[in-house]
Amino acid sequence: MLVELDRGADEPLSLQLERALRDGVRSGALRPGTPLPSTRALAAELGVSRGLVVAAYSQLGAEGYLRLGRNAPPIVAQGIGVAAEARTLAADPEWPHNLRPDLPDYDAFPRAEWLKSYRAALRRAPNAALAYGDVRGSAELREALAAYLGRVRGVVGEPEHTFVCSGFAQALSLIGGVLVRSGRRRIAVEDPSHVVIRAVAARTGLETIAIPVGGDGIDVEALAAASPDAALVTPAHQFPTGVVLAPERRARLLAWAEKTGAVVVEDDFDSEYRYDRPPVGSLQGLMPERVVYCGTASKTLAPTLRLGWIVAPGELVRPLVDEVLYTVISPPRLEQLAFADFLLRGELDRHLRRMRLRYRRRRDALVRELARQLPELEVRGLAAGLYLEAVLPHMLNEERVLAEARARGVGLAGMSEHCAEAVRDPALLLGYAVAPEPSLRRAVAVLADAVRAAG
Ligand SMILES: Cc1ncc(COP(=O)(O)O)c(C=O)c1O
Repeated sequence: MLVELDRGADEPLSLQLERALRDGVRSGALRPGTPLPSTRALAAELGVSRGLVVAAYSQLGAEGYLRLGRNAPPIVAQGIGVAAEARTLAADPEWPHNLRPDLPDYDAFPRAEWLKSYRAALRRAPNAALAYGDVRGSAELREALAAYLGRVRGVVGEPEHTFVCSGFAQALSLIGGVLVRSGRRRIAVEDPSHVVIRAVAARTGLETIAIPVGGDGIDVEALAAASPDAALVTPAHQFPTGVVLAPERRARLLAWAEKTGAVVVEDDFDSEYRYDRPPVGSLQGLMPERVVYCGTASKTLAPTLRLGWIVAPGELVRPLVDEVLYTVISPPRLEQLAFADFLLRGELDRHLRRMRLRYRRRRDALVRELARQLPELEVRGLAAGLYLEAVLPHMLNEERVLAEARARGVGLAGMSEHCAEAVRDPALLLGYAVAPEPSLRRAVAVLADAVRAAG
C-alpha cells in the first residue's frame, strides 16, 4: 500500500492514515471493489499498531468509503470518487431492446474470417512492420482500398493520396486541423446532422454553419450564400433524414466548390447499404481535386475496429501527412494488414452481400411492425442504411417519448437531438441492424407502450 506516514507531523498517525485512504478512494487511485490489506498486514507494513489500522478502517467504513465484512478484507465501496462520475459519463449502455440508429449487427461480425486475416497478416509481416511506418498507413491497405473504392464507389484516387485513420471521427479531426492551419475558418454542415460529428468539426476550431437539408439533400443555394471555406456532406445517404443529394444539387455543389476553391468533405459512412437500387457513386469521383472522400468500417464491420480512410486531393496530401505525424505519428498497423488481407480475399464483399439481405429483411420487419403496432407513426427515408425515421404525431413530445422508451430499455435516438437550428417534425430514429426480427417485434411492442405513456 502506497501510504506515507509522517512521524514528525503534529497530525496523529491514525488521522494521517484515514486521510490517505479517503483521498485514495476519492481520487480513484483505490478503485471500487479493490480489497485492502488485512489490519494485521497493513499494520506490519506501516510499522504501526494494529489498533490504529482497525480504527482507521472502521471510521472509513462508517463514512461509506469502505465495505467492512467479518473475516474478510475491507473492500473499496462502489460509486464514490471522481472515477465513478467519469465512468457514468463515458458509459455506452447495453439496451435490452436495441434500436440504436448508428450500429451495425455486431453479432454478425465475421470473427473467424477476421481472425484468419489477422493471423495471416501477423505471420507475413516482416519485423520492420512493427515500427512506425508510413504516416499514411500501410502500403498494402492503401493499395487494397484504392482498388476497392474505385470499383465500388467510383472513387478516383491513388494509394499515395490515401490515408488510413481511426474512423471518420479522426478523419474529420485531421481534415479540420489542415483546414484551420491553411487559414480556412468556416465549414458548412448539414442541419440536421449527427450531433457528435458536428461537435468534432467544431472542436477543430472551424466555425460550423448550419445549412438546412430538404427532401433533395442540403440546400446548395443557402450554402453558397453563406460562402463558407468548406462543406461537410453525406451525399449518398444523409444522416439523419435518410435522403440522397439530388443529381442537380450534386452538380451545383461541385460547381460552387470549383468556382470558390472551397473544400467539400464527403462522409460516405453507410453507402454500402441501399436496398431499392444500386447506390449512387461518390461525389469525389466527379471532382477529385476539390472533394476529400472519407469512408469507415464502422457500419460494414464494427465500430470498435476504428478503421477509416481518407482519399485527399493532391494539394492536401502534404498538410495531412504533417497533421497525422504531429498528432498520432502513424496509425496502428497490424489491424491495417489484417484488413488489407480481408479486402483482398473478397471477405468484405462476401460479408456485405450477406448483411444487405439481412438488413433489408429487418428493415421490412420493422416497417411492418410499426404499421401494425404504431400506425400513427409515419416512416420516412429511403430503403437504405441501418435506420429509418419514424415521424411522431404532432401532439406527442419527442423528448417525452424518448425518455419513456429509454426508461423501458429501448435504445433509440430522436431527430431534434441532431438539429442545430432546424425545426423539424418530432421523429424517432430507429435502427434495425442489431435486433433480429423477433426482437424487433418485441422492441416495437415496448416502444408502443412508451408512446402511449407519453401521450
Ligand atoms: C453521419 C456519420 N458519419 C460517420 C460515422 C462513423 O464514424 P466513425 O467512423 O468514427 O465510427 C457515423 C457513425 O455513427 C455517422 O453517423
